Amino acid sequence: MNHRIQACLLVLCPISILAVQAISPDAGPLYSLRSLWPKTPTSWDNPDPCNGWVGIICNNEFRVISIKLSSLGLKGQLPGDIGSLTQLQILDMSYNKGLNGPISGAIAGLTNLTNLILIGCSFSGVIPDNIGSLQQLVILSLNFNSFSGTIPSSIGKLSKLYWLDLADNKLTGTIPVSSGNQPGLDMLTHTKHFHFGKNQLGGEIPAQLFRENMSLIHVIFDNNKFTGPIPSTIGLLNKLQVLRLDRNLLSGHVPSSLNDLTDLQQLQLSNNQLTGPMPDLSGMKNLNYVDFSNNTFEASDVPQWFSTLKVLTTLIMDNTQLQGSLTSALFSLPQLQSVNLKNNQINGTLDLGYNYSAALQIVDVQNNQIMSVQGHEYHKKLLLDGNPFCSRNTGADPLNYCTNQEQSIPPYSTSKKNCGADSCPSDQVSSPNCKCSYPYMGTLYFRAPLFSWVGNMTYYYELEKTLTGSFKKLQLPVDSVFLSNPRKSSDNYLELDLQVFPYGTERFNFSGLSSVGFVLGNQTIKPPPSFGPFFFIGSEYKAFAESSPTSKKSMSLGVIIGAAVGVFVLVLALLCAGYYAFRQKRRADRITEQSKAFSSCDASSSGSIPQLKGARWFSFNELKKCTNNFSEANVIGSGGYGKVYKGTLSATGQLVAIKRAQRGSMQGNVEFKTEIELLSRVHHKNLVTLVGFCFEKDEQMLVYEYVPNGTLKESISGKSGVRLDWTRRLRVALGSARGLAYLHEHANPPIIHRDIKSTNILLDERLNAKVADFGLSKLMADNEKDHVSTQVKGTMGYMDPEYYTSQMLTEKSDVYSFGVLMLELITGRRPIERGRYIVREVRVKMDKTKDLYGLDELLDPVIVLGTSLKGLEKFVDLAMRCVEELGSDRPMMSEVVKEIESILQLAGLNPNVDSASTSESYVGSSGSHTQHPNSDSKEFFDDSGGYPPCKVEAQ
Ligand SMILES: *[C@@H]1O[C@H](CO)[C@@H](O)[C@H](O)[C@H]1NC(C)=O
Ligand SMILES: *[C@@H]1O[C@H](CO)[C@@H](O)[C@H](O)[C@H]1NC(C)=O
Ligand SMILES: *[C@@H]1O[C@H](CO)[C@@H](O)[C@H](O)[C@H]1NC(C)=O
Ligand SMILES: *[C@@H]1O[C@H](CO)[C@@H](O)[C@H](O)[C@H]1NC(C)=O
Repeated sequence: MNHRIQACLLVLCPISILAVQAISPDAGPLYSLRSLWPKTPTSWDNPDPCNGWVGIICNNEFRVISIKLSSLGLKGQLPGDIGSLTQLQILDMSYNKGLNGPISGAIAGLTNLTNLILIGCSFSGVIPDNIGSLQQLVILSLNFNSFSGTIPSSIGKLSKLYWLDLADNKLTGTIPVSSGNQPGLDMLTHTKHFHFGKNQLGGEIPAQLFRENMSLIHVIFDNNKFTGPIPSTIGLLNKLQVLRLDRNLLSGHVPSSLNDLTDLQQLQLSNNQLTGPMPDLSGMKNLNYVDFSNNTFEASDVPQWFSTLKVLTTLIMDNTQLQGSLTSALFSLPQLQSVNLKNNQINGTLDLGYNYSAALQIVDVQNNQIMSVQGHEYHKKLLLDGNPFCSRNTGADPLNYCTNQEQSIPPYSTSKKNCGADSCPSDQVSSPNCKCSYPYMGTLYFRAPLFSWVGNMTYYYELEKTLTGSFKKLQLPVDSVFLSNPRKSSDNYLELDLQVFPYGTERFNFSGLSSVGFVLGNQTIKPPPSFGPFFFIGSEYKAFAESSPTSKKSMSLGVIIGAAVGVFVLVLALLCAGYYAFRQKRRADRITEQSKAFSSCDASSSGSIPQLKGARWFSFNELKKCTNNFSEANVIGSGGYGKVYKGTLSATGQLVAIKRAQRGSMQGNVEFKTEIELLSRVHHKNLVTLVGFCFEKDEQMLVYEYVPNGTLKESISGKSGVRLDWTRRLRVALGSARGLAYLHEHANPPIIHRDIKSTNILLDERLNAKVADFGLSKLMADNEKDHVSTQVKGTMGYMDPEYYTSQMLTEKSDVYSFGVLMLELITGRRPIERGRYIVREVRVKMDKTKDLYGLDELLDPVIVLGTSLKGLEKFVDLAMRCVEELGSDRPMMSEVVKEIESILQLAGLNPNVDSASTSESYVGSSGSHTQHPNSDSKEFFDDSGGYPPCKVEAQ
């Protein structure tokens, strides 16, 4: 090797490696987050996520290990490529009500994840089936979202799981248990918490769910639709402390094995359809709280255990067919706080005895057969309305036993020191220690407190002490906490408002706040045992010390410098490589050498390149493995440029389409790079996403997300098995228009697609349209703002006549093609069929005085057969404006989007819902992994089938 070249390489390669390594190899997915979310913290403008991005913690190898972003008011979706953060251990995005959309199955790639905490957001869709791949998970909290579908059985494989909280969602189906190779929740022998309340789970609670070797302490299944009997296997859970099965449709006898639960502290079976004899609880020596109300037990005498359960605080048996008389032994249980035996047949004399519990606050025995009251005069609440006692003693009722009194919870709030006359500025709050500041606010929810007398302030004092002490112990910047407004929800949860005040300053900074949010969501802080299990829902914190997450601005100086340095280094490296290649030209094949130099200087040194947003570098071997050695069976398309393979990324389980250039159709390094950069820069739900690329060993490959339902053309022609009715076509038009509008108006620099056609629109599993093939796209450079003069490219029939003649490319050329696409959507015809041009056909046949503009015979029979064609005329009007001769007469894509949205609304549809969820006639299954009927067919991605060729036309 020439010495000068060697020197050049020696000098340049380290620089380029340094420049590359300054950026975390995990930057890609975080860049995706940044570009997907309309608002991000300003520190995220820094090019390196491991350098100062709030909420992100990296290890020594610049790998992201922790993401904590609670209560930041974040909005948007979670990108699929988050799954490539293979070292991530903690992911907490709780309390961001604006975070929505589904959780991609790619999350299974987070193989080191121990804590997944997404409480109180608006995530929806199914919980990914492959969540069981997260083998290290200890805490899984998805509560308070809108997840639907069933509980994935693969959760049973999470052998380290300690905490499983799926409550407050829209989950349906039965609880999965293992059978054969299928895992199930019965395998979770280390899990202590099953919190599934407030869902729509149903079927019987499987007997197999409960086994002797389990560690469960809390089983909370309230407010679901469980039917059938309580399985007798429940008695095997010998560590169980809380059992809430209330507010379901359970029936049958209560199994006698329940009495084996000697550690049980709280038992709620109320509001079911349980029958048979009153259960015997005499073995539950630790029972504090019992509620059996509103069941249809056999009439039974007041049970013995009423007076033997020594630590009982609460006895609730409203409407449970009790009869006979109460003895004073019950009321002398030392910790008893409330007794509610309303709506029964209790008779005889009510004997409160002479040493009833000092803690007793209320005895409610309304609507029974009690004749008289005996014992020490009782000064707490005794409610006897609806008993013969009251009808007989009509006159004097000095203790108000017979008035129907409202039971209210005494107010409480943390006491503040006497702060003197100085008050706080209007938007600040005085802490209990008299410091004016902006507190972090939220609500604590207790699912099963062991007490019922919520008017006893001692509990709250203890809670305050525990919270403050824990924050201090964890060295979090907390001055004090303020609790207020205790209340019971209708389904028997205790709720309390919480304010957490910052220490030493007026406001929390990002990291202080997200740490406070994290310890509350992560169950790091344990309230006093009497409060039982809890969760917290925080509000958005708006008063950060740093500026709050802001809407996207122009790039910061740092980014510009960083990018400029990166480009400079890269250009040098490429020049160097080019020079080296030039000198080697006579001895070796040029392309081979060039790509070797490129990869040795660049790609192999790191998984990422600075200018790439979201896309990552793949090694040849990795792609080889994921396509089963590029086996023919994996080919889903082929053409002049090479072949498209379907593959599964081993790290994430994500399905991808890999476009592999064949020899001879490979492009130069610079062009390839330009294309990757262009593709990686655009992220939109209606654009096919570039997952990554490979540039190695004479190989150029582009890795795209796999879009399961094929091209729009296949669906229109009926080839794909997806039936596109009128409303679905409207949605496809809207999605495509949104994707295109994004390219024109939001990509920076703007991108003209140049080849909009029905084979370049792909449909995902929910039939969302995704615009593909930017291979022919051109950036609109700043100095050519209005048009890009370029060689004419495009597809006959869709091509803008103005562009064709003038060779001046503007975004209005795409609008023209889009207009043609709209006509294709309503007619089901190719743009040029048997020599007839669709635009002319429609223009000639159109008669605005007639119904459907007289276009009946041109319309696709598929849409005519279906529903009413509401909005069709408006749709035709819009299409015809898009295909105006003069570009200046055509609307902008954003205007097209607005028009289609209003047409959808006219048709009574919500423009922001996807089509699979609204039309009934979808042929696929509704799961998240819907297979395209033709996904194995080789024609699925034909040459023009959506995925861009590796070639880019040189300017
Ligand atoms: C991540 O997981 C791998 C494989 O399970 C393991 O070797 C590695 O130590 C883990 N990293 C951390 C930081 O736990
Ligand atoms: C019992 O059912 C009635 C009527 O539905 C309801 O008002 C009452 O709150 C229930 N009692 C309990 C303790 O849940
Ligand atoms: C109370 O009810 C029980 C069962 O219905 C009955 O056997 C008993 O005689 C009644 N006692 C009084 C005092 O009415
Ligand atoms: C309030 O609760 C505390 C702690 O459980 C208990 O010691 C105290 O007796 C209770 N006070 C009343 C009035 O019930």
